[in-house]
Amino acid sequence: MPLVNMLDMLKHAHANRYAVGAFDLVSLDFLEGIMAAAEEMQAPVILSLAESHFEYYDFELIMAATVAAARRASVPVAIHLDHGESLESVTTGIRLGCNGVMVDASHHPFEENVRITREVVETAHAAGVPVEGELGYVPGVEGEDAEKHPGEIRYTTPEEAARFVAETGVDFLAVSIGTVHGRMKGEPKLDFQRLKEINERLGIPLVIHGGTGLSEDQYRQLIANGVTKINYYTALSDAAARCIAANVAQDVKGYTAQVKGAREAIAAECRRMIRLWGSEGRAQEVLKAARPWREVAHVIVYNVEGLNEEEAAELRAEGRRVLSRIPGVRAVETGVAIQPDDPQFRYVWLVRFCQPQVIATYRDHPDHVRFADERFRPVAGNRITIDFELDE
Ligand code: 13P
Repeated sequence: MPLVNMLDMLKHAHANRYAVGAFDLVSLDFLEGIMAAAEEMQAPVILSLAESHFEYYDFELIMAATVAAARRASVPVAIHLDHGESLESVTTGIRLGCNGVMVDASHHPFEENVRITREVVETAHAAGVPVEGELGYVPGVEGEDAEKHPGEIRYTTPEEAARFVAETGVDFLAVSIGTVHGRMKGEPKLDFQRLKEINERLGIPLVIHGGTGLSEDQYRQLIANGVTKINYYTALSDAAARCIAANVAQDVKGYTAQVKGAREAIAAECRRMIRLWGSEGRAQEVLKAARPWREVAHVIVYNVEGLNEEEAAELRAEGRRVLSRIPGVRAVETGVAIQPDDPQFRYVWLVRFCQPQVIATYRDHPDHVRFADERFRPVAGNRITIDFELDE
């Protein structure tokens, strides 16, 4: 069960003035280290997967592990697509199990950012998935030296932020008030007055990117002014890399021996931040306040008239192809009864939705309407359709 609605999770943090760590993961060591820390600290946590890191892992494979880790957790977990680059990435992220998504169009001019973000909001909200947008520009690259990517910080203004939220409908806003992604020399100067004004105007959970390298006091001031999600990666990466370097320095040989201890180094850094950001010990409160994120199985058992076995198989293949692209659909599985002689129904569709709101979205989606009206219903008059909310 501990996959929970991310909007509810962050609203709880906003109302109770603490921040949830959105820790970017790039391997199983990260996933296990982050989850071990969250469990130990009894903290809500966001497992974050940045599109800029997709060159280092297979997104589909790591998502299977990430969803499994969330499902077996005792603490509340959300899974977030970080820095999604397009509507297509967002739809893929939701299909693979993300229950919060970011679209980062912050490098575009304001109107273009609004247009791209609004399109993503329409699609994600139709699947019940909350959206983070970014306004202003936070330069740098996660995990690298900030000075290697010396883009200009573009600060978020309170007026533009209010317009952006009203015009796009985003649920959380990533703001630029002086942080940069990656490894910095010294402490950045943050514009807390600006943050305060943005928070007072918007009243929605705010997000800080480039969480690495701030002082304890800076984190405290961020949280006091509406920041409820802190994106954090470089410090985790550096903690793991230091551990590996120490192993290598001791002349340890082989992959498993050289990465030994990296998971615990990541967990230790997560624990330090969870304590500092006030999410320690909040797990039970969040579990009470946040709606569980439950999948739905849309099941149809049916017979066909006027199609031979080959044509029936083609129909199923077409359905898998067309229907699995509809936003909010996690999977479309099909099958044929094992006992051929005596089944009441010969065929099955098992369509998994990411949550109950998708029942209506799917029913009315033009691709579904077309497939159902033109291809399926004319040959499958004999059928039963039921939506099941799945047990944990
Ligand atoms: P750092 O790598 O600076 O911690 O930033 C992480 C981040 O903002 C991911 O979106």
